[in-house]
Amino acid sequence: MTNQQGPAIQVNGLEKSYKELRVLRGVSFEVARGSIFALLGSNGAGKTTAVKILSTLLKADAGTARVNGFDVAAQAADVRESISLTGQFAAVDEILSGRENLVLVARLRHLKDPGGIADDLLRRFSLTEAGGRRVATYSGGMRRRLDIAMSLIGEPPVIFLDEPTTGLDPQARIEVWQAVKDLAAGGATVLLTTQYLDEAEQLADRIAILHEGRIIVNGTLAELKRLLPPAKVEYVEKQPSLEDVFLSLVGTKA
Ligand SMILES: Nc1ncnc2c1ncn2[C@@H]1O[C@H](COP(=O)(O)OP(=O)(O)OP(=O)(O)O)[C@@H](O)[C@H]1O
Ligand SMILES: [Mg+2]
Repeated sequence: MTNQQGPAIQVNGLEKSYKELRVLRGVSFEVARGSIFALLGSNGAGKTTAVKILSTLLKADAGTARVNGFDVAAQAADVRESISLTGQFAAVDEILSGRENLVLVARLRHLKDPGGIADDLLRRFSLTEAGGRRVATYSGGMRRRLDIAMSLIGEPPVIFLDEPTTGLDPQARIEVWQAVKDLAAGGATVLLTTQYLDEAEQLADRIAILHEGRIIVNGTLAELKRLLPPAKVEYVEKQPSLEDVFLSLVGTKA
């Protein structure tokens, strides 16, 4: 379903509290189709809460959000058909092989040729050789790649990745980053949350920082870096890193 015009994601004045805890206090942003958008924030900033609202798992207290043109509250079924969600914790079955996991999901979605879909995804995520092995034997990076591959079955136009590389080693992170870049290159819109500044720096077309319930900055990496003047170190200008920008705005490390 990609007949919709306008941005892939539009969020306006989103609010959410858990009892007295006001987590989202008026969050607004847009994500252009085919782009990668990083929602950056410290632990507990509300990233997962925002993703859950956008993926219809949680209701907002106030504000509106549209995903693929559909209202998350009033058109939840259309939103669900438009998205995939890979959570902070993987949803793969340990007993089955990687290929069996993929075939199972393709069957559940009533797609033609589940085996062909599984083999194609195994290839795209460099899991062809491991495909016949039980997931219990996979490394963390292989699991995460399989998890992302599973979420792509049915080719959803909008993909939510909640902390896709948390807990992965550097090599596995690079593999996941490549997979994410490939998704966007294929035309999908990706919203990812991360606590890693280098991840946002590597992947995102736009970066938004969620802090104390609001988006305090939203821009390209170059725009964010322009918020800080370059430091002069012995006559050589040192450009600020995204980490410098984040620390000066938020005060603590993500
Ligand atoms: N179901 C819930 N009931 C009560 N409080 C919650 C619930 N879910 C989240 N919270 C609280 O809301 C705040 C935001 O949580 P959320 O999981 O959205 O943050 P996050 O940015 O995803 O953090 P992390 O980087 O640790 O994943 C936290 O203080 C958390 O403890
Ligand atoms: Mg989270």
